[in-house]
Amino acid sequence: MYPDIPDKPAGSYDKPLLCREANTLNLGIEIKRNQGTPTAFSFFHSATPQTNNLMDLGLKDKVIVVSGSAGMRGSIGQTIVSCLGQEGAIPVIVDRNARGLTYEQELKDQGIDGLFVQTDMTQPEQIEAAIQKIVAKYGRIDGLLNNVGVNDGVNWDSSYEDFMQSLKLNVASYFMLTKCALPYLKESKGPILNIGSKVALTGQGGTSGYAAAKGGVLALTREWAVDLIRYDIRVNALIIAESWTPAYQNWIDSLEHGEEKLTSIVATIPLQNRMTTPEEIANTCMFILSDLSSHTTGQFLFVDGGYVHLDRALLPQKG
Ligand SMILES: NC(=O)c1ccc[n+]([C@@H]2O[C@H](COP(=O)([O-])OP(=O)(O)OC[C@H]3O[C@@H](n4cnc5c(N)ncnc54)[C@H](O)[C@@H]3O)[C@@H](O)[C@H]2O)c1
Repeated sequence: MYPDIPDKPAGSYDKPLLCREANTLNLGIEIKRNQGTPTAFSFFHSATPQTNNLMDLGLKDKVIVVSGSAGMRGSIGQTIVSCLGQEGAIPVIVDRNARGLTYEQELKDQGIDGLFVQTDMTQPEQIEAAIQKIVAKYGRIDGLLNNVGVNDGVNWDSSYEDFMQSLKLNVASYFMLTKCALPYLKESKGPILNIGSKVALTGQGGTSGYAAAKGGVLALTREWAVDLIRYDIRVNALIIAESWTPAYQNWIDSLEHGEEKLTSIVATIPLQNRMTTPEEIANTCMFILSDLSSHTTGQFLFVDGGYVHLDRALLPQKG
């Protein structure tokens, strides 16, 4: 925190040499005088908020591809698409669910350009065709957000084929979509953002396929960050712990004692004992995709209210 311009007796310092209203910095020089003779000087600056200081993320007209973004309203992908639209970006919805058509139309109704490409993300040839369709329409891809993922509970009772299917959807699709988009990302120096899960780091129990896949997503994030650094492509992962989406609600509803389970989970979320909202996740995605994050790569960003890292034994107890 910078100190504000100190109060001075009249005439004891010169006026600021420079006043940059646009970026809120007031810079100046303070001159100490003894009977009118300068004896010392120092620089000062103050970060005084300006009323017109909106953060421009610079996402306008950027073609951003988002996988798994035709989920129910309030899902992570749908919220990200909506946020991208509000930022003036051109969201591309890649999902197998025909609901994407409705979202595409809704964007158009708001005067926002956008595209839905119906794609089964477990089918590599469909992924390839999706990228071709996007490039045929826009001629470029400015950013990629790998978000598709289902915590499918593939575990000891599941078959080898089920396990492989889980990997196909939850990690191989990230590889394939990125591989197909890569020539265009190299041209645009577009960033890649992978959606991860706390399950990769904390475990969950009962979900081997998803855990393995999300672990792979984090490993690929670091691998790609290294591999693509020569193209100025940034690669990061955003890790979610507990976010209240329709899919999460479905899971709670499927449990015998869902309400109790939910109460016990929420109580363990350190910050404000509440779940992360999809909007909070989407907002961080906007920032990481934007040039304002221009020197951030290879990072795992936890948007989780402190769930993974904070020692609960040290936190104040509520109630
Ligand atoms: N909600 C949470 O608490 C939480 C926690 C950790 C990680 N995540 C991750 O966030 C992401 C989004 O989760 P969500 O809660 O919004 O779930 P969601 O079920 O709403 O989103 C999954 C999306 O993937 C799509 N999809 C599923 N199978 C597909 C396929 N074969 N081809 C194409 N699309 C397919 C669905 O249509 C849906 O749009 C996932 O990667 C998930 O693992 C969520």
